[in-house]
Amino acid sequence: MKGSTNKVAVVTGGAAGIGAAVCRFLARDGADIAIWDWNADAAQGLVEEIAAMGRKVVACKVDVSRQHDIESAVKAVHDQLGPVGILVNNAAISPEKDFVDITPEDWDRVFDINTKGVFMCTQAVIDDMITARWGRIINISSSSAQSGARRMVHYAASKGGVIAFTKSLAQEVGALGITVNNIPPSTVYTAGLQSVEARLPGGIEGYVNSTIPVKRVGQPEDIANAVAFLASEASGYITGLTLSVNGGRYMQ
Ligand SMILES: NC(=O)c1ccc[n+]([C@@H]2O[C@H](COP(=O)([O-])OP(=O)(O)OC[C@H]3O[C@@H](n4cnc5c(N)ncnc54)[C@H](O)[C@@H]3O)[C@@H](O)[C@H]2O)c1
Repeated sequence: MKGSTNKVAVVTGGAAGIGAAVCRFLARDGADIAIWDWNADAAQGLVEEIAAMGRKVVACKVDVSRQHDIESAVKAVHDQLGPVGILVNNAAISPEKDFVDITPEDWDRVFDINTKGVFMCTQAVIDDMITARWGRIINISSSSAQSGARRMVHYAASKGGVIAFTKSLAQEVGALGITVNNIPPSTVYTAGLQSVEARLPGGIEGYVNSTIPVKRVGQPEDIANAVAFLASEASGYITGLTLSVNGGRYMQ
């Protein structure tokens, strides 16, 4: 999609699942790719794939809750690819626990990664966008923040923070040529979903049939398509949006 060409895109949690699909789609659209993942080894195959597409690519070992990791990764990206134009805040953890069992440590860990990580990664690259007077920030939130989700109070609350972050930052940086949007996925077939598959009543198929109007599970590419659009020139008049790519599970 026009607009990603020759831009540098950082994708957090880009080694697997939705993030890996996002890396592929942005590379297809002409961006150079920085994969920031705490499991950077898992990105090796993807690095080779993107390089074979003729794009520059770097994988950095980053825990998005650690500022030192982020600072080192920004330096590596500047040295190897250049200033950042596109940031996809996708890395997150999604633990489940009954509310009464959630400890303050559980709460902090979820917020440190899912919400504070979004803040720190964004702050680390936004100067590049301000200088260029062009930027695209796309945050992957969750439909759980829209609908609520039992046994995921901490997760859903952390993703609600991401939606509020999106709208607030969009107001602050719109005049600088930077758009900030978020996509809340619902039921996307990745390792995260596979790990809870057995516990869903009726399995994935039963869950999909009873909750998703389009009657199929989401694929990482469904989300990556929307990210590619929001990263493109064509989306320049859209900011602060919550773009629900969820097969209709939650309708705004
Ligand atoms: N899959 C779904 O159905 C679904 C639904 C709602 C929201 N989401 C959101 O979509 C995003 C991607 O989900 P997914 O299903 O692809 O997940 P996934 O577990 O398949 O992949 C997540 C990636 O992020 C990395 N990661 C996790 N914590 C990290 C950290 N602290 N620092 C750096 N990297 C880290 C992992 O190593 C992995 O490569 C997440 O924000 C998730 O909350 C997914």
